Amino acid sequence: MCGITGYIGKRDATPILIEGLKKLEYRGYDSAGIALLKKGKMTVCKKKGRVDVLAGLMRKNPFKANLGISHTRWATHGGVTDENAHPHVSSDGMFALVHNGIIENYENMKRFLVKKGYTFSSQTDSEALVNLIAYHYQYRTSDKDENRFLEAVRKALIHVEGTYGIAVLCKDKPDELVAARKGSPLLIGIGKDERLVSSDVLGFAGRANNVIYLEDGQVASITKDNCDIISIGNTPVEYTIKEIDWQLENADLNGAKHFMQKEIFEQPKAIENAIRGRISEDQATAILQGLNMTPNDMRQIDRIIFCACGTAWHACLVAEQLIERYARIPVEVEYASEFRYRNIPIEKNTLVFVISQSGETIDTLEALRESKRKGFKTLAITNAIASTISRESDGGLYQYAGKEVGVASTKAFTSQVAICLLIALYIGRMRDMSYSVGKDIINALKSLPETIEKTLKTAPQIKKIAKKYACKNDFLFLGRLDEFPIALEGALKLKEISYIHAEAYPAGEMKHGPIALICPECPSVVFACAEDVLAKIVSNAQEIKARKGAVIAITCFPEAFKDIADDIITVPKVHDSIRTIIDTVPAQLLAYYIALERGCDVDKPRNLAKAVTVE
Ligand code: AGP
Repeated sequence: MCGITGYIGKRDATPILIEGLKKLEYRGYDSAGIALLKKGKMTVCKKKGRVDVLAGLMRKNPFKANLGISHTRWATHGGVTDENAHPHVSSDGMFALVHNGIIENYENMKRFLVKKGYTFSSQTDSEALVNLIAYHYQYRTSDKDENRFLEAVRKALIHVEGTYGIAVLCKDKPDELVAARKGSPLLIGIGKDERLVSSDVLGFAGRANNVIYLEDGQVASITKDNCDIISIGNTPVEYTIKEIDWQLENADLNGAKHFMQKEIFEQPKAIENAIRGRISEDQATAILQGLNMTPNDMRQIDRIIFCACGTAWHACLVAEQLIERYARIPVEVEYASEFRYRNIPIEKNTLVFVISQSGETIDTLEALRESKRKGFKTLAITNAIASTISRESDGGLYQYAGKEVGVASTKAFTSQVAICLLIALYIGRMRDMSYSVGKDIINALKSLPETIEKTLKTAPQIKKIAKKYACKNDFLFLGRLDEFPIALEGALKLKEISYIHAEAYPAGEMKHGPIALICPECPSVVFACAEDVLAKIVSNAQEIKARKGAVIAITCFPEAFKDIADDIITVPKVHDSIRTIIDTVPAQLLAYYIALERGCDVDKPRNLAKAVTVE
């Protein structure tokens, strides 16, 4: 996905747009660009590389204007080049556009536009859209229409198949900014005699405390002190202005070296926020507002399907084991990108749960929409207030983990698992879970922040271990039961920020093939806190050692590994219901420190973006 900012007001737009882009750089960082408009004169500067490169160019060639748009890119169509950077300008020079999303029918558009005499200088789908807007402005609107600019954008968008969040400038209209969205988030910030556009509230660069969330199929005409919104069908839209909760949205390093480090160490707080107000001590159950389901509705549920992507999918796998263990309801877990096309038979008492930190992942959003299309109850766990997924689901739970900026998800994951445990508790206590088991789970949840603090104290030891293994190019991660999803999560963390090839398996699967990989150059991380399978996983570790593979054990049973493991990371022994959260922390730290050892950019790893809003 990409980051978009726009500004119209009394101030110099450039520093505001650049500051906003810097806050959005976690969304994509291949190239960046800016377009400014003043009295009919438009200037565009765009360059491969980070926002700082663009800022340097703008300092060298300043252009004072009170209206502008800007973009930081995560490449979809077309390589990472200056020409493919946004903004894109129509070949008649009339329009500049920044775009987040994918236009699926852009080749047909290009063929049509080339016949009409428009030219192209990039391989992007976005350039087809800006020329299509120019075409409608020139040939499909009247120069007597005072809303000609808005009308040209609206008419062009009718022909778009795919997703977009766009901001557009028109040379003829130096006092108007047009924005539109379908499938990619776009917000309008309300400032004092100024309006801003952004992909998320951080892009307002602190200049707006009130926000309008554009909905899919809406087009906005924005001036410095007003905003009119119409639907793509040309009907006026009533919109609400919401206040931004900066407590949750704030994202500064606060002295940490990286956002990932900060967010790993924020996990005690994130868990506190996730469970706050959601525990009933006297009923030994959870209080889950926002599900929009009565207890009786919930009692009817006899099957739950979880859908998500990436780390959130791993949280679903943990949820599956927690809900089946404590609520005795069958659970299935699906990759959202698969679920939306698989046409799974879902009976009427099936509940579909989606999990998404950003609340904008397009595969998860479309899985949600597919479930709703089939008439099923859908609930969402998200960390982004008023995100598309949270707004389109029938109900759900916010994580309140605070903004997660590091591309590698950490606090959001453990927060999701804690919320899934609350769900297991809630459903379990309306079925056959006993009061005492409910109390045990509640006590475990309440102990989590302190226990995570204790676990974080292994950081210096893990930093040393990381030095030892940072040179390896292959890793195996192994776990059993609910620690297998943690093995998956540990492998993903390592992969995505250190670029080391890492695979995860249920430990029992080793002998069915993966053991062939074992050698001194392929260390194995073994998660061993599940007491009922401890003996099994110890023997798996012995099998590895017998083949000269290094073993890093993450365990609350260090004695069991003292003659086997090369390194033992001891974590506190906790109630079974929360062991996966505790196990995850050392895996996050190991990935973080290995990536640092390898000189990788842990907050902006190559090829990745924080939320994937394109398919
Ligand atoms: C996690 O570290 C990755 N950055 C990625 O797998 C992420 O979890 C996935 O894209 C889902 O994102 P979401 O939770 O915002 O939907």
